Amino acid sequence: MDCFEITGPNRLQGRIRAAGAKNAALPALAATLLAEGTVELTGLPQVRDIDTMTRLLEHLGTRVERDPDDLGTLRFLPSGSTVSDDADYDLVKTMRASILVLGPLVARLGHARVSLPGGCAIGVRPIDQHLAGLEALGAKVTLEHGYVTARCDRLVGNRFRFSVPTVTGTENLLMAACLARGTTVLENCAREPEVIDLARLLTRMGAQISGAGESRLEIQGVDSLGGARHQVIPDRIEAGTFLVAAAITGGDVELEGSAPADLAPLLEALAGAGCTIDTGPSSIRVAAGEPLRSCSIETAPHPGFATDLQAQFMALMTQATGRCSIHETVFENRFQHVPELVRMGATIQVDGGYASVEGPTPLSGSHVMATDLRASASLVLAALVAEGTTVVHRIYHLDRGYEGMEEKLRTLGARVVRTTE
Ligand code: UD1
Repeated sequence: MDCFEITGPNRLQGRIRAAGAKNAALPALAATLLAEGTVELTGLPQVRDIDTMTRLLEHLGTRVERDPDDLGTLRFLPSGSTVSDDADYDLVKTMRASILVLGPLVARLGHARVSLPGGCAIGVRPIDQHLAGLEALGAKVTLEHGYVTARCDRLVGNRFRFSVPTVTGTENLLMAACLARGTTVLENCAREPEVIDLARLLTRMGAQISGAGESRLEIQGVDSLGGARHQVIPDRIEAGTFLVAAAITGGDVELEGSAPADLAPLLEALAGAGCTIDTGPSSIRVAAGEPLRSCSIETAPHPGFATDLQAQFMALMTQATGRCSIHETVFENRFQHVPELVRMGATIQVDGGYASVEGPTPLSGSHVMATDLRASASLVLAALVAEGTTVVHRIYHLDRGYEGMEEKLRTLGARVVRTTE
């Protein structure tokens, strides 16, 4: 197993380019199952979750062509009659987003069997809304032996209201509804930029969608979808992580190719913490505040503060003057980084969905364990300001979602090496 050895403290400075968004790429890959023509996706990040989803599509019968000169481009050729409907446990267990193949498979084939997903252990994370939505469109859904099976002749448009705005749930239903007969209205939808990006791809494939980015989506079903070319949006969570890295190290970092509007709540919080923010049409620069001030946050579905940036912001708050509250409202078990940050010297108390952080506290290099994707990122950030060497174990979590993180950090002046335990 690989780990990072990070020697701090270090001031990060310089300019890097954001990778393509993992969470936009995953539904885009799943959407290729709907197409009767070739779909070319560009700007795909080189991360393990994308490899896993690609393998899953190949297992389902899709032919995938790689471009040796551009690893971020993949072409997905329709599988015709050889398509399989069975997404088995070995492929699905490491990645919750595998459930995204369920909607497209049922819509296209009329049947699908997908293992219940694994992924980050950041809460119970049910998929009841994905299933209720498919049932509303006429699928018969059963759960057996850890698999979801869904069947129907052809999905039929209907009105469905999500009980919570779920990102992958909205994406699954949006994809399924594109091939349903008649009109589907989805309410209380997730409004994340990644949902909008998926709608853009589906529209290029011939889908009729209105309301992308709003909580009400209306989809007029079509008989078939064709090929398309699409570039996935930049990764706002990766970008946000590096901007927090600038802030926590007293540094100055510019992210090229990222959309400031998609990161508005983080930028507001960084400004509240005393950082200087400069934005261009597709660039963001953050220079750390001296001293950093405490700033309370509350996570919420988009356009609120992204839960995927909560752990990183908490690491930052250990270096800010004063006490702040971090309220996690999206997932019930998303404070797994807290005990590790405390081992490094942070003062953090957790009470249910609230964490109270008191700073600034000097952090010292320690052995820490990555528990999930974004928690791992917060440990890396803490290590950048800690005195001495921190070993972040189990960074396979990071490799799921961050492209070449250690190279990017080194470009900015960090001392990071990847070693094998
Ligand atoms: C996606 C992101 C993940 C991010 C999360 C919230 C991808 C691949 N992953 O995950 O990085 O942390 O959005 O921004 O895009 N829920 C239900 N029933 C359901 C589905 C969800 O109750 O059927 C609940 C969840 O338990 C959670 C909340 O809804 O409390 C939001 O989860 P959801 O948006 O579904 O997260 P994911 O789509 O899995």
